[in-house]
Amino acid sequence: MTSIQRVGIVGAGAMGQGIAHVCAQAGYDVLFYDVDLQIVEKGIRQIAGQADAAIAKGKSTPEEKSALLARIHPVRFDALTADLIIEAVVEKLDVKRKIFADLESINPDTTVLASNTSSLSITQIAAPLRARNRFLGLHFFNPAHLMKLVEVIAGPDTDAQLVQTMVDFVKTLGKIPVMVKDSPGFIVNRVARLYYLESLRLVEEGVAEMSAIDALLRSAGFRLGPFELMDLIGNDVNLEVSRLMYEAFDHAPRFKPSAIQEDKVRMGEFGRKTGKGYYDYEKK
Ligand code: NAI
Repeated sequence: MTSIQRVGIVGAGAMGQGIAHVCAQAGYDVLFYDVDLQIVEKGIRQIAGQADAAIAKGKSTPEEKSALLARIHPVRFDALTADLIIEAVVEKLDVKRKIFADLESINPDTTVLASNTSSLSITQIAAPLRARNRFLGLHFFNPAHLMKLVEVIAGPDTDAQLVQTMVDFVKTLGKIPVMVKDSPGFIVNRVARLYYLESLRLVEEGVAEMSAIDALLRSAGFRLGPFELMDLIGNDVNLEVSRLMYEAFDHAPRFKPSAIQEDKVRMGEFGRKTGKGYYDYEKK
């Protein structure tokens, strides 16, 4: 039976810092790594800012914030040994495979390895691994410290008992686990792809303005309209997911990336993280 006490996080971008936050908040010791220490430090500053916001809302205390931050330890790659390691780096198969191969070489066989991939195949990421039975997908949603759902994705070789252990782990984070078999986009990204792509097509066809589409879908009960949500996710990340799903579904027209998306990425307008996407965001 796997016992999780120490969690490693690879990647301190939007998702990595959110996952580090929820793990530390749940009482786990977190080893936090990115290619550059400054990125990790920036991630920790963001976690501190989110903790301050929770204090301002009366949902946390300064003591809880200090304890949370004390559980997060920036580390070098060679110190990244843990019971569970969650990878949240760029959505590129070769980059992820290299990280997992390197992690396998420094960790014991009992370590559970997980990817936060949005759209890559869990089976393909795991293919070169020695212990494919201890590998799975743990797909958190953005912003990870707030969003409740986590998809728990089993590949064909993932140990069934391990899947149950990870479902229980996700519950200890105060999240809602949903078990999914490995399939392009899993559940949420497959359904949500059309939320983004049909909205982009409406704009391409001149049927409606972005802001009108966003306002309408918000009034229909969505927390964010599709353009607001794409700016939060990052247009670079979102386009990559569209491309991968278009490939995975054999160029099915319903998953075809939009030219508007391609242009945004070409211009470096990734959304909130760059200060400009479909909307302008004041850089603070
Ligand atoms: P991001 O671009 O904000 O951060 C990625 C981080 O990975 C960067 O800090 C980068 O320095 C780091 N990185 C790149 N190569 C690395 C390496 N070899 N070793 C260590 N760190 C490395 O990306 P984001 O949005 O956090 O996405 C990360 C993963 O999470 C992707 O697989 C993405 O598909 C997935 N995801 C993204 C969501 C989103 O809304 N942005 C939602 C759910 C999943």
